[in-house]
Amino acid sequence: MIEIKNLTKKYKNFKALDNVTFHVNNGEIVGFVGMNGAGKTTTIKISAGVLKPSSGSVYIDGYEIQKNKVEASLKIGWVPETPIFEEGFKAIDYFKYLAGYYKIKGEEAEKLALKLFEETGILDAKDKKLKEYSQGMKKRFALAVSMIKDPNNYLFDEILNGLDPQGIVFFRDFVNKAKKENKAILFSSHILNEVQNIADRVVFIHRGKILGIKRMDEILKEAKKSIKVTILNPDENILKILNKFGQVNKINNDIFEIMGDVNAEEINELLVKSSYKVSKIEQIGGLEEYFLNLIGER
Ligand SMILES: Nc1ncnc2c1ncn2[C@@H]1O[C@H](COP(=O)(O)OP(=O)(O)OP(=O)(O)O)[C@@H](O)[C@H]1O
Ligand SMILES: [Mg+2]
Repeated sequence: MIEIKNLTKKYKNFKALDNVTFHVNNGEIVGFVGMNGAGKTTTIKISAGVLKPSSGSVYIDGYEIQKNKVEASLKIGWVPETPIFEEGFKAIDYFKYLAGYYKIKGEEAEKLALKLFEETGILDAKDKKLKEYSQGMKKRFALAVSMIKDPNNYLFDEILNGLDPQGIVFFRDFVNKAKKENKAILFSSHILNEVQNIADRVVFIHRGKILGIKRMDEILKEAKKSIKVTILNPDENILKILNKFGQVNKINNDIFEIMGDVNAEEINELLVKSSYKVSKIEQIGGLEEYFLNLIGER
């Protein structure tokens, strides 16, 4: 379990975090969402014990990260936003070197490396130098490193960046498995439709303050819904037709938004029947919509 309590962080005179409080339960996946500079990485680094807060505390399975750093650190796996490695090393050698920190040596380290490289999909590249690794491979390597102690808690900072679609599926499966093993997972991401697919709960942060904490099923229920349709040959009757489905916002000459929980197929059918050429019709809603409304920056 990860408990973040009243964190405040000042960089000189700038308050990057202001009384940030939330927690991640065991067996729970929490998405951490906010714009660039909102304070996600700062919160995650403090939780991983690599950055000191100005005030407040983080408990990892009950151990305070600053006061009981050794015990707490053993219970966290952290994948940084931009992992930094000794790039001249071969991946497997560097992994074994890092495993040495946890007193895992020799044959045991070799076996663990092969097992975790296999799990994270970089076994074929085990003898490549880290500088030859792509961005996505580096993320996979960092994930393998974070798994060394089989920790009960994970902190993933933008781990989806640089992953290919297969990598994203892999990550989704990974966290779902960890969740079944009753682990606590916090991950930050800007890829909101993936957060929507993966997270049980979302913590929204904005300018260093927690703006909201909400379960995903509730977000999806509450998110403002609409249909956006692009029509190649609109005429003066178009608004009358679309108004049958709900309130209509004319976005420009050929793009219209119909507000409410309306069925895109029904709209499409009627438009086509009425000889309109529909070039695009899309459902708006979900986490992205909810987030943009929440921060009021739409
Ligand atoms: N070492 C530092 N010195 C001064 N200011 C910093 C430092 N690190 C971060 N900041 C500032 O703190 C704020 C929060 O930064 P942080 O990296 O936590 O944001 P973030 O939510 O992770 O953003 P992103 O989505 O871009 O990764 C930003 O305004 C940033 O400029
Ligand atoms: Mg960040």
